[in-house]
Amino acid sequence: MSKKPIIVFEGIEGSGKSSHINFVSNYLKKKKIKFIKIREPGGSKSSEKIRRLILNNKSDFNKSTDLLLYLAARSENLSLLKKNYKKKIILIDRFVDSTIAYQHYGFGVDLSLIEKINRYLLKNIKITFTFLNIVNQKNMLTRLKKRKKLNRYDKFNFIFYNKVQKGFLKLAKRKTKIYKIVDSNKDLKKNKEIILNKVKMLIK
Ligand code: TMP
Repeated sequence: MSKKPIIVFEGIEGSGKSSHINFVSNYLKKKKIKFIKIREPGGSKSSEKIRRLILNNKSDFNKSTDLLLYLAARSENLSLLKKNYKKKIILIDRFVDSTIAYQHYGFGVDLSLIEKINRYLLKNIKITFTFLNIVNQKNMLTRLKKRKKLNRYDKFNFIFYNKVQKGFLKLAKRKTKIYKIVDSNKDLKKNKEIILNKVKMLIK
C-alpha cells in the first residue's frame, strides 16, 4: 500500500463527509504529517472560480453543462494532483465518484462519457481509498437545516439524493477492498475511530 495515498471522502449532502475529512486533516496537522486537502468542485484557485459558477443559486445550467463544468473544475486541479501524487498524502472532499453518482445516477447522463473524460483527465492517477459516508433522510434534513447558506445543489428533494446515494453504494460494492462505508446515522465518536484506524493503516 502506498505511504502517500489519495484518500477520498464521498457522500450526499449532510452525510458527515466534510466533518470526517476535517477530523482527519486535524489529526495529520497535529502529527505534523505533510498532506494536501482539496475539495471538488474547487481546490485550486481556478477550480474554486468554477465552483462558484456551478453552485451559485442564480445559475440554471442544464445537466450536460453541469457535467462539463464539474469536469472542468477537476481539470483545473490536475497540476496540483500531479505535483503531489505519491509525494504527499492527498485528501479529497468529493472526486470522480461524485460525478458518476450525481450526474449519471442522479441526472441520467451517459456513464461511458463520464468515465471516458475522467480517464482522459486522470491518466495514471489512482485513488487509494474511499470513505463513503451514508445518511438517512431524517438526519440528512436535520443537518441541512442547520446550514446558514444552501447552494444550488443543496436544494433537491430526498428522492434525488436517495438515487445518488444508491449510486454511490453501487460503486462501493464493486470495489469493496478500497471502500469503507461509514454509517453517519451511528455514533460520531465511533465513526471517527473507524476512520482514523484505517487512515493510520493507509499511511503507515
Ligand atoms: P459540497 O462541496 O458542498 O458537497 O457541494 C458540491 C455539490 O456538487 C454537491 O451537491 C455534489 C455536487 N457534485 C456533482 O454533482 N458532481 C461532481 O462531480 C462533484 C465533484 C460534485
